Amino acid sequence: MVRLSAPVLAALGLFANKAFGALEVNLDDPESIKKAAAQVAEDLLTFYHGDEPGWVPGILPGPPPDGDYYWWQGGAMWGTLLDYRHNTGDTQYDDMITTAMLHQAGDDRDYLPSNWSASMGNDDQAFWALSAMLATEIGYTDPPEDQPQWAALAQAVFHEQTSEDRRVPSGRCKWGLRWQVYSTNNGYDYINTIANACYFNIGSRLARYFHNETYAELATKTWDLIDRLGYISDKWDVYDGAHLPDCTDLNKAQFSYNAAMLLQGAAFMYNYTDGAQIWKDRVDNLVDRMIEIFFPAPARIAFEPSCEYQQCNSDMESFKGFTHRWMGTTMQVAPHTKEKILPVLKQSTAGAVKQCTGGNNGRFCGFHWTSGVWDGDTGASQQMNVLGALVSLLAPDVPAPLTKDNGGTSKGNVNAGSNEAKLPTFAPITSGDKVGAGIVTALIIAGSLSAFAWMSLD
Ligand SMILES: *[C@@H]1O[C@H](CO)[C@@H](O)[C@H](O)[C@H]1NC(C)=O
Ligand SMILES: *[C@@H]1O[C@H](CO)[C@@H](O)[C@H](O)[C@H]1NC(C)=O
Ligand SMILES: *[C@@H]1O[C@H](CO)[C@@H](O)[C@H](O)[C@H]1NC(C)=O
Repeated sequence: MVRLSAPVLAALGLFANKAFGALEVNLDDPESIKKAAAQVAEDLLTFYHGDEPGWVPGILPGPPPDGDYYWWQGGAMWGTLLDYRHNTGDTQYDDMITTAMLHQAGDDRDYLPSNWSASMGNDDQAFWALSAMLATEIGYTDPPEDQPQWAALAQAVFHEQTSEDRRVPSGRCKWGLRWQVYSTNNGYDYINTIANACYFNIGSRLARYFHNETYAELATKTWDLIDRLGYISDKWDVYDGAHLPDCTDLNKAQFSYNAAMLLQGAAFMYNYTDGAQIWKDRVDNLVDRMIEIFFPAPARIAFEPSCEYQQCNSDMESFKGFTHRWMGTTMQVAPHTKEKILPVLKQSTAGAVKQCTGGNNGRFCGFHWTSGVWDGDTGASQQMNVLGALVSLLAPDVPAPLTKDNGGTSKGNVNAGSNEAKLPTFAPITSGDKVGAGIVTALIIAGSLSAFAWMSLD
């Protein structure tokens, strides 16, 4: 008798416990979507070790060369898992999520832990704040009172990024938020879209959550600034950024997360203003252009045109999931967009799932979705992308983001983040310390060149 190997049995659908087999889902059935999402989440967490002895809670292995992932990607992962939790109701990872997000809040409760100064961008800090904001909006379990609170963490980051020392003092790009927090890091002179878009996004959500016009004004001022600098073109293309002194050397690369971060923030402003026409136009124009650029016809499967024809780096490899998730929230706070967004996300997700046939269980996903075939690579970003895609399809049918006056319980703090970012201080160098100092310098250079490094390689 012929003995069939496991893959052959799996292909024949004969493998009883289904331990081996491609990811399967019926996108018309919410229960089926939840089941597939649970599998993708489980596979995602195989890349996380922060809950094991000897590892740091909250972060994925890294930063390079110690592992593949930068600090901010941990923040992004918890946000993805919070969306997963809210949209599916699966609370099994709550302890892990809370431990992670509180540990990385750092001693000053502002997501600026000194361990990661060498590669600390305003966007990196903001990615953690975005996850704290999401926890606030979905009514995620509040930490004990002596611990940092979700809303206050988001405020802390926003307040710090409002301060002058993060910003350009004068000239054409006056008030622009710098990419990097510290002047010693490469990229301190890059005024990029993502840093400013994250700030805009957090501001629009704080405005809606607290019903506080101060945040709305700062968000609006940010939109006006990046619009005036030409980072949003008259065709609604969203460019990556430009350098000091005058921000005229536009880097016209288009990445989906820049546009999606602006879209989601604009949708919150639209909601906060009870449907102001100016925000409606911005939302609608961004949606239309994003679908054209990042979900190309006829397949409408997510694609990163500025890198995917060649090689996307590990940062870029995570953008598709964010884009799906933030378009998902857009459908909640600007419900009229569902008609346009949902069919596209569904087509894209179908493409995403089709290539999840890799890894040791036969259902890990790759990064390239359009070919319909697994690309041979696995990773946390790849899993996060498909998880984000799946759960976003459920977004229209779950409760919309809460506000303080409408179900939200997270406590804010208008003084959060007053402990302002200072340059990391190192002990005076004595001759015996020279080797150590050299390592610190090397780490700073390595970190600043590598985290989001592609952004400054122009
Ligand atoms: C900072 O690094 C130390 C030493 O590895 C570690 O114990 C600690 O948990 C880290 N803190 C954060 C916030 O990552
Ligand atoms: C704001 O969001 C809520 C919650 O989803 C929604 O019911 C309402 O219609 C939104 N407002 C506008 C102007 O679309
Ligand atoms: C609105 O937010 C700002 C910034 O946190 C704060 O200073 C102000 O007190 C808040 N206003 C109200 C009415 O809470």
